Amino acid sequence: MRKYLIEGGHRLTGTVEISGAKNSALKLLAASIMGDGTTRLSGIPRISDVQTMCEVLGNLGIRIKEEKNGDILINPSSLKKYEAPYELVRRMRASILVMGPLLSRLGRARIAMPGGCNIGSRQIDLHLKGLACLGAEFSLGHGYIDVNANNGLRGGEVYLDFPSVGATENVLMAAVMAKGTTVVSNAAREPEICDLANFLNSMGAQIEGIGTSTIQIEGVKELHGTEYRVIPDRIETGTLITATVITGGDVLIKNTQAKNLEIVISKYSHCGVEFNYAGDELRVVCNGRIKPTDISTLPYPGFPTDLQAISVALLSLADGVSVITENVFDNRFMYVDELNRMGANIKVRGHQAAIIGVEKLSSAPVRATDLRAGAALSIAALAAEGVTEISDIEHIERGYENFDEKLSRLGARIKRVK
Ligand code: UD1
Repeated sequence: MRKYLIEGGHRLTGTVEISGAKNSALKLLAASIMGDGTTRLSGIPRISDVQTMCEVLGNLGIRIKEEKNGDILINPSSLKKYEAPYELVRRMRASILVMGPLLSRLGRARIAMPGGCNIGSRQIDLHLKGLACLGAEFSLGHGYIDVNANNGLRGGEVYLDFPSVGATENVLMAAVMAKGTTVVSNAAREPEICDLANFLNSMGAQIEGIGTSTIQIEGVKELHGTEYRVIPDRIETGTLITATVITGGDVLIKNTQAKNLEIVISKYSHCGVEFNYAGDELRVVCNGRIKPTDISTLPYPGFPTDLQAISVALLSLADGVSVITENVFDNRFMYVDELNRMGANIKVRGHQAAIIGVEKLSSAPVRATDLRAGAALSIAALAAEGVTEISDIEHIERGYENFDEKLSRLGARIKRVK
């Protein structure tokens, strides 16, 4: 079990560069299965979730190579298996994103029922319902879902009851080589979905309506390999913005697409944070105590649920009371008890939390319960009095590339220990 030891009270200053987006990279890797030829992906972050997705692909028989410059080459010509086993799906729920590509390529997939981040029950009914509209048939048993498209996939009308990110992606990937036209309504609009659609188009797919809630896909006979660079990680950007703000710092963040974080920047501006943009660079400055604000998480372009815990850590030090409403996941407040152990004053009722701002936080041994909760505790620790010990940081390393090194270079006192 690895830990972070973080000594609070050091102001962050300097320059930091954002890595490629985890939630896009995982899907681009899965979609590469469908190319006839090798795909080269650049900017893929070195994080353990990417490693797990590479293991999922390797287990299917696909050859993956990492070049010296960090590019990843995926050669799917040796694809021979169609199963994502429990051992890997349990480690990372996003492994189920190979379902659409396998169905498209081989007409069948066998996927273990997912586990994943500890942030409330996460169903896959919308994935299955969407794929059924394209002619797929399912059977469930012994902890596995078997999906078949014995007569091939055909285009269809898919209406998603909720704009699920994963369901939109699985349907999109299954539809690109289905016969005929597919229309996905109430589709998710996250920037990572746009990235996946642009990537698929660069492989020869015909997708329109990218970035809107109605996506049209004209099925093509085949896709080819491609070269593609993943977009920057907006959640890492939001995390480093928050780390800067909580320490009253001044940081220049490079490789951002700030337009993907409009609502976060607008909320934080109301709290008194100063932002300056120039191209893909964003400067963040914060002086003095921040003002409280109310936040409701929603599918994009709403406030991202992945920044909920991180914002709560910040607002725990605001000058007044904030209310946070979590609308995307059940049970995404598990970290609150840990923050309260550091002196925060947060009361949770159902899917809402009232955060009564305190003047200071103090160090305590705390445990990362999931990826973003772990980042939130680290951020709180940057401002807390004393040295905070955060255990179970494996969760943090699933999604942040060189988290401790990046913070360290900005002046944080953070040590990674066994
Ligand atoms: C993705 C992101 C995750 C982010 C989330 C919401 C990846 C790898 N993960 O997760 O970081 O927090 O989007 O922005 O990209 N739901 C159903 N049935 C389904 C599918 C989802 O009820 O078939 C529900 C879930 O339980 C959840 C909500 O819909 O309450 C949102 O889930 P979804 O958008 O699918 O998130 P993920 O794709 O799992």
